[in-house]
Amino acid sequence: MFVLLLIAVITYYRNINYKTYDIQVEKSYFPEVNTAAEIEALAKNLVSEMTFEEKVDQMYGEKNHKSLRKLANNFLIAKRFPHIYAGKNERLHIPPWVLSDGPRGARVMHQDVAAVTTFPVAMARGASWDVSLEKRIQHVIAIEMRANKVNLGATPCINLLRHPAWGRAQETYGEDPWLLGEFGLATVKALESHNVMASPKHFALNSLENSRWVVNVEVDERTLREVYLPHFKKTIQQGKPAAVMSAYNQINGEYCGHSKRLLTDILRTEWGFEGFVNTDWGYGVYDGVAGVKAGLNVEMPSQSAYSVKALQEGIDAGKITEQDIDDIVVGSLKTRLKYAFTGDEQQYPLDKILLPEHIALAREAAEKSMVLLKNNSVLPFKKKGAKKIAVIGRLADVENTGDEGSSDSTPPYVITPFQGISNYHKTLGNQVILNDGSDLESAKKLAAEADEVIVVVGYTREDEGEYIILFRDKMVASAKAQKLIGSKGMGGDRDSLRLRPEDEQLIEALASTNDQLVVTYIGGSAIDMNPWQDKVPAILFAWYGGMEGGNALANILYGKVNPSGKLPFSIAKNEKDYPYFNPYIENISYGYYHGYTLFDKKNIEVAYPFGFGLSYTNYAYSNLQIAEPTVTANSNIQVTIDIENTGDMAGEEIVQLYVGFKNSAVDRPVKLLRAFDKINLQPGEKKTIPLQVSAQDLAWYNPQTKKWEIEVMDYELYVGGSSATAELLTGSFKLE
Ligand code: GLC
Repeated sequence: MFVLLLIAVITYYRNINYKTYDIQVEKSYFPEVNTAAEIEALAKNLVSEMTFEEKVDQMYGEKNHKSLRKLANNFLIAKRFPHIYAGKNERLHIPPWVLSDGPRGARVMHQDVAAVTTFPVAMARGASWDVSLEKRIQHVIAIEMRANKVNLGATPCINLLRHPAWGRAQETYGEDPWLLGEFGLATVKALESHNVMASPKHFALNSLENSRWVVNVEVDERTLREVYLPHFKKTIQQGKPAAVMSAYNQINGEYCGHSKRLLTDILRTEWGFEGFVNTDWGYGVYDGVAGVKAGLNVEMPSQSAYSVKALQEGIDAGKITEQDIDDIVVGSLKTRLKYAFTGDEQQYPLDKILLPEHIALAREAAEKSMVLLKNNSVLPFKKKGAKKIAVIGRLADVENTGDEGSSDSTPPYVITPFQGISNYHKTLGNQVILNDGSDLESAKKLAAEADEVIVVVGYTREDEGEYIILFRDKMVASAKAQKLIGSKGMGGDRDSLRLRPEDEQLIEALASTNDQLVVTYIGGSAIDMNPWQDKVPAILFAWYGGMEGGNALANILYGKVNPSGKLPFSIAKNEKDYPYFNPYIENISYGYYHGYTLFDKKNIEVAYPFGFGLSYTNYAYSNLQIAEPTVTANSNIQVTIDIENTGDMAGEEIVQLYVGFKNSAVDRPVKLLRAFDKINLQPGEKKTIPLQVSAQDLAWYNPQTKKWEIEVMDYELYVGGSSATAELLTGSFKLE
């Protein structure tokens, strides 16, 4: 027994302190290689020198006995994510590449690193509608990835939020393809500028978690092209990422990892993608021959479908050729060698991790993401000399930065709501009292006596997030039964959009105790607030706010920062208004409409519209001007709008432009987001804001002609502070 234990301990430490490899190429081995053409020629030459086994070794992460053991000991036990050295060939001096996740921070850490800058989740940043902020955040994440000796970022996650119950909603930027595309593009540009290979994911239609390894998503061609792919197309065509991560699920009966239509015909032939496709981890490809024929370059993290045996048999059976294998290998090698050869404009030492400016940015991101949904003259808390502040709820003093799936990252600390509010009041001599809400009577008593009450509710990694289970057969059984079989496991899709009963009971109990009360929600997606939203005077979405979330929350609550976030998704009045969703399912159809396009089309009133968020000031929109009332298919629609800050507090306003298709000859949404901007306005300040829409972005996909077509007709324009039609100024233009 003792010997076994000793072996286990030694194995553990050997796998925690695994051998590391440099990801840069040793140029002295390739003195004459510099240009892209020379690098591509080198890739072909290297492949021609490889044995068949060496070629196959380029087609998966790391040898199973290494990768699986490292993952087991690091991810499962040490709660660290190891470097998986993919594609290393020491004989030919080919360096490995290493993937790190990172929607909210660099996940893979160098063995001497214990923490990284941890931002609010991507959905929170989606709520900031601030693309330049996102770019700044992604620069920091890229710098910290490089400092952690990683050169591929498995990010951005830009899967569309089709239903708010999706467990990984927190990892994406919302329900709208245009918003997703802008954030995805910003991320890729930032990562690539630091020689981090970006790998947008999960390609494609991965918008359901608990059946993701089995679910078949049925989708018609228009819906695929106009709803679920445009943001990938923009991110890939304009951002030119080195890689793309294929999704686990099936589309119209074909696993993404096996789909030549998706990975070659659309991604490469139509969109011109020149990088390589890597699978999602674990169950990303099942049939090696199908993967090769589809154009799938790398199976991650270890070798299963892409085995020498399976591929050799495929060649012997005439299903694939060795040239197909060469093309697959050159496809990834030429791309990653380009990065390995490219010199850096800056150095990435370990001490570039957690720089003070990185931490300050994490707080700024949290401040700019929070969405004020309701405010009956409560916020900002203005009671001068407030002596007693109550912070109540089971999450009030919990470190809660989001799920513990692949988007997790390790912060050096987390400022909880209670700590942030306490920090704010420290120098004011006020009393901040914590109550976890478990005893309703004591919570009510405290709330009644306090000058201000912050009720903290929401979710944790137990309630939502990446669905962490080890074995596929449980997912298969649950999907077949259309209900959970066995224990649930960590994270996953939510079964209900309601808050936990204990949170709703707490809100009910406290609602009438104090009119200086705000409900602060911590989470990553929409919730159903029907039971209590009319009973409380203020509601703030604080999201999973990252390592500085508590300080940001205090700055918002006490008016140091004016809330500027707006919802990146719609919140329906009733859960049944959303599209059909079942976490446990084998087949599901994704329709053309969801979110605001669905609610507009069916004229369904929502609780809170896409793009909605309050401020401590008010903004007046006027004077919508359209430069040219008539445009052509090759021109831009130039628009200006006047926005005035009519209140007494400076703030940032998100102006949104939607295009309407009332006259369309085909079934189209009432309106679609096609431009937005975030602007600073001092009290009383008025600015004329330019917005533009390319006529190309008015197109619809005609499945008959298999072409994007722009209708010659009159289009409507809607400009304002949310997607709520009543709030929007309208205009129109003709396309000839
Ligand atoms: C996970 C996730 C994916 C992540 C990968 C590596 O299963 O689905 O988003 O990049 O594995 O952690």
